[in-house]
Amino acid sequence: MNFWKRFSPGFTILAPMEGVTDIAFRQVVAKAARPDIFYTEFTNVNSYTSEKGRHNALERFKIEETERPIIPQIWGTKPDMFLETAQALRRMGFSAVDINMGCPDRHVVATGGGSGLIRTPTLAKEIIRTTKLAGLPVSVKTRLGYTRLDEWYDWLTNILQESPAALTVHLRTKKEMSKVAAHYELIPDIIELKNQISPETTLIINGDIEKPSDAQEYLEMGVDGIMIGRGVFHNPFCFEKNPRKHSREELIDLMSYHLDLYEKYHLSPYDPLKHFYKIYINNFPGASEIRDHLMQTKSISEAREIINKL
Ligand SMILES: Cc1cc2nc3c(=O)[nH]c(=O)nc-3n(C[C@H](O)[C@H](O)[C@H](O)COP(=O)(O)O)c2cc1C
Repeated sequence: MNFWKRFSPGFTILAPMEGVTDIAFRQVVAKAARPDIFYTEFTNVNSYTSEKGRHNALERFKIEETERPIIPQIWGTKPDMFLETAQALRRMGFSAVDINMGCPDRHVVATGGGSGLIRTPTLAKEIIRTTKLAGLPVSVKTRLGYTRLDEWYDWLTNILQESPAALTVHLRTKKEMSKVAAHYELIPDIIELKNQISPETTLIINGDIEKPSDAQEYLEMGVDGIMIGRGVFHNPFCFEKNPRKHSREELIDLMSYHLDLYEKYHLSPYDPLKHFYKIYINNFPGASEIRDHLMQTKSISEAREIINKL
């Protein structure tokens, strides 16, 4: 059965976020309130297919069984490398694979990958078609266009003509980065286009959604699932089915769990971990002062000392 058809309408996904949704943070979110599906951070097919990069790529594909269902996301520009990587992912036991066609990072775009593929639609099609040969359901995550909003029709038509198993639309162009509000007004037209060209494709929307109930009206229109990225920074419990208020102790416990996992998986360096502290030490009296102290720490044990006193 197609991986995507296992989920009831309204299913939820934690968005792939480079440097954020690693094996540790995914488990933090799973403990707080799990979404229906996880994605890995994006991994370059050049890395997996080169001897030099393979070790690093395999680290990024590492998951715990408890994280399933989880989809590895890959990016690049060479169809044969996509195929080789997707075949390996299948052997590793993954049930689906996602292709990144939306990343606006200038280093990624300079290679022609990520949202760079919006400018080479024939290559984008070939990548989808070739990746499918590995036998896994292939999905695509993309944006509305590269420069102009009115590119959306031709670009999404191009993708849908390859009948991806699922399509996630981040409702902005590459040029818009994340600086303007997501274009929810296009959702009815996107649904219509999808139903005309590839009705079997599962449609997921993404952009500025803070909690599943924010997207209720779009689910009623025919969207199948929703993906939340930065919303998890504002509320790590955002996937909760029955939202409730969480105590300071619960948030501190969650931070403590994150520290444990960072150590367990030997993740490094220490400093990027500090970016997460604002998620947990927030919205209570004295939080900003505690965060200032935490920002000066140089190790997990120093951070632990501070939170253990709270
Ligand atoms: C720090 C960061 C890293 C990201 N890395 C990826 C990535 O690896 N793959 C991807 O498809 N999108 C990536 N994105 C985009 C998100 O998946 C998502 O499309 C975007 O944040 C909009 O959704 P949101 O408004 O819910 O955050 C990243 C976003 C952020 C903020």
